This record gives sequence, structure tokens and C-alpha cells, in this order.
Amino acid sequence: MSLEEKISVLSTLLDRIQREYAPATFASSLGAEDMVVTDLIARKFPDIEIFTLDTGRLPEETHRLTQDISERYAIRLRVFVPDQQALETHLKEHGANAFYQSVDLRKACCHIRKVEPLKRALAGKRAWITGMRRDQSVSRTELKPEAYDADNGLWKFNPLADWSQPEVWEYLRQFNVPYNALHDRGYPSIGCAPCTRAITVGEDIRAGRWWWENPEGKECGLHVSALPASRVAAIKPRLATSK
Ligand code: ADX
Ligand code: SF4
Repeated sequence: MSLEEKISVLSTLLDRIQREYAPATFASSLGAEDMVVTDLIARKFPDIEIFTLDTGRLPEETHRLTQDISERYAIRLRVFVPDQQALETHLKEHGANAFYQSVDLRKACCHIRKVEPLKRALAGKRAWITGMRRDQSVSRTELKPEAYDADNGLWKFNPLADWSQPEVWEYLRQFNVPYNALHDRGYPSIGCAPCTRAITVGEDIRAGRWWWENPEGKECGLHVSALPASRVAAIKPRLATSK
């Protein structure tokens, strides 16, 4: 399928989501994939809301892109932040950088800074949209463009599931879409600053995320159902203990 055809399929799906799944919301981390979806929503589908989770540990470049977006598009980016009380308790008990100590503490931090705010962002919505792609990671190989998200109780759409990384970049160039400056410095995948590093030639595109952990477990809890069913069963008990 050509890029033009993929854009057409993407537009048709976003149109259907806007009409049949209102209120729908798009989760943007402001990564390259998310900028493709943001650009289309901003230009053609104004009834789809866009939100971002500001974890409090994002790189400065991501904040700068938020500014670029507000200058370029007439959209309102809703921002959700962590619950202050939960964060203070966690910081008091474990310190600011406990995520390096164990997978459980890392997931606990992701839970406070991402998963719980996500629940608030999704409250009252009928569908949410992500920018995930199947070939981003071993944990995303079974990603479907559309699935019921039983954990959060609404429909979940991954409209870029079958897009390749070159197609994402071709789109961004063709439509002159702003993107995170870190992408030009060896960061194909960008999350929180202390948990993201640049990758070197030949490394997997998510190798720079939680690089000290096993690749199979490298999900932050936003997308539990993105994991193959066999992995969900193995990981769920650990997620429960990290709450
Ligand atoms: S993740 O492990 O951090 O979730 P990734 O950075 O690959 O992985 O993001 C996958 C998708 O999750 C993004 O396309 C976006 O839809 C959503 N997402 C991730 N981080 C955020 C964030 N901070 N705010 C909103 N959505 C996010
Ligand atoms: Fe915390 Fe790192 Fe997860 Fe960000 S990515 S929420 S800093 S553990």
C-alpha cells in the first residue's frame, strides 16, 4: 500500500471514530508517530480531543514541542499531571530516581506518573487512540488497529499499527509537521528524560527506553493489552503489586 493509500485509510478510520465513538480522545506523547495523528486530527477531525500526560520528568525538548504545536495548530492539548499526594508519598519513601533500583519500583513510578493520570484522561470517553506501531517492539507484534480495552472499559484504536518508521517520517516531511528535536539526536522513541537514552546504529528502536530492563517487559502500563495474551498473564501480578 502506498503512503497516500495509508493516509486515506487513516483518515477514514479517524472519521469513523469521530462520528461513531464520540467522545473520543487521542493520547499523544508528542513522539513522531503521534505527530502524524495530531496533524490529521488538527486539520480534519476537530471533535477528537488530544491529551498528553505530563509526567513531571519529560525532557525539555518535549516541552518545547508543545509550544511549537500551539503555535502551528488551532487545537487545545489537554495536559494531565500526576496526583500530587501519591507522588509525594512515593518520593518520600523511595527517592526521586527509584526506577533504576527494580522493575517493581519502575512500574510504581510509571503507575503514579502515567497510568493513574491516563485513567482520568479516559474517564467518560467511548474510545481512545494511540500512535503505537506493530514493529516498534517485541511486545507489540500482535497489535490490532481496533480492539476493546477491557482494562479501561472503552474502545482503543491503534490506527498506525501497520505503518513503518520510514512512512511516519515521509508523512512528517511531506506535511512539514513539527517534531521533537531529540529524534535528530539518536532518540527514535522518547519518554521521560531519566528513562530514555539515545541508541546506536543497529540497536532496536526502543533499546533506549528503560535500557537496563529485559526487552519483553518494557511497557509502562499504559498498554497492558498491547502485550501478547501469554505475556499479559505473566506481567499482571507484578503490575498489581506496584500499585
Ligand atoms: S510507552 O511505553 O511510553 O507507552 P511509547 O512511547 O511507544 O510507549 O508510546 C506509545 C503510545 O502511548 C503513544 O503513541 C501514545 O499514544 C501513548 N503515550 C505514551 N506516552 C504518553 C504520554 N506521556 N502522554 C500521552 N500518551 C502517551
Ligand atoms: Fe517514572 Fe521513568 Fe516511568 Fe517516567 S518512564 S514515569 S520517570 S519510571
